[in-house]
Amino acid sequence: MNGDLDSAFVPVAVAHAPGRVNLLGEHTDYNDGFVLPIALAQRTTVSLGPASGPAFHLSSKESGETIDFTLDRLPDEAFARYVFGCLQQVVGRGHAVPTLDIQVTSEVPIGVGLSSSAALEVAMLRALRLLLTLPIDDVEIARMAQRAEVEFAGVRCGIMDQMASSLADPTHALFLDARTLATERWTLPPGCSVLVLDSGVQRALVTSAFNQRRRECAEASARLGVGSLRDVEGLERVETLPEPWRRRARHVVSENARVLRAVADADAAVLGRMMNASHASLRDDYEVSVAALDQLVALLQEHAAVFGAKLTGAGFGGACVAVVESSCLGEVANTTLRRFAATGGRGALLAPRSLELDLGVQRIECSVRRRHE
Ligand code: GLA
Repeated sequence: MNGDLDSAFVPVAVAHAPGRVNLLGEHTDYNDGFVLPIALAQRTTVSLGPASGPAFHLSSKESGETIDFTLDRLPDEAFARYVFGCLQQVVGRGHAVPTLDIQVTSEVPIGVGLSSSAALEVAMLRALRLLLTLPIDDVEIARMAQRAEVEFAGVRCGIMDQMASSLADPTHALFLDARTLATERWTLPPGCSVLVLDSGVQRALVTSAFNQRRRECAEASARLGVGSLRDVEGLERVETLPEPWRRRARHVVSENARVLRAVADADAAVLGRMMNASHASLRDDYEVSVAALDQLVALLQEHAAVFGAKLTGAGFGGACVAVVESSCLGEVANTTLRRFAATGGRGALLAPRSLELDLGVQRIECSVRRRHE
């Protein structure tokens, strides 16, 4: 089958949800901690209409996949499992769901750490809410989306991605307490913008390594006698743990402190310093970076118009995020990607989408060139 969506298809409900990039607070959400993601302009759209047969019919414009499935058997295809998981959440709450034709189109890049799966889940649940007039709010949508992923896609993810996709917008970051799910819209310091670059390294072994980190954190908190690493104050007792628990716990405890500091200060230089420290901690203590990401992040950090940079999302490849002087976005993207290519890297611009990027010519003038220490 090809990926052309059926032109005869008349959707009854259409919903969108964005991807996200996380500015700070990596691997803290499943430790009941703090995160600071922001929504991307790129989004996923789900359109629902009545199915013509006894099975659900799912198609993706981008991948060209078409999959028929019923609710009594988990589909083999990873993409379909997210959708299946969302349907199970709704059915599990006692709502009858008729078989549907489900069409998905997405602008969110897949597999680079920008939460394409959460965007799919949230868009799917929003479309179902619309279709069936479900009495669920945006936080409940995020919870259901997370459960769909944990129970049916096998990733024991935290709730950051789904909360960001369900509640964040591209103009404010979302300061989230992953324990209480309390949120605050957090405005980026004036004059700075978010730049997202792909390292070109496909993420590998994310599920198994991610689930392993979760186990290590659970073990570290058990050894420290706390319910979760969120409850550890200071690093004194953490330093007495044997490896690898010492370094894993040190990352989580210090990362929570970095988020709180950045949010409280609301200053670009402080945010940047926290991002740089976050990357070092993810690389050295949490061990979820790879050489290409370290290289790309280092090139960004060296640029005079960059406040700070780090890998974003789970790690093990994929994208990195930088906070940059707004007037220099194009120049930073150009220079960094060119320097990265000179080291053999295969980077790409992921956001902002609107940025004109011509790797041969630097057309965008950068007026502000000072180092923020
Ligand atoms: C993935 C998970 C999130 C979070 C990040 C790391 O994106 O889905 O819950 O743990 O990794 O910060």
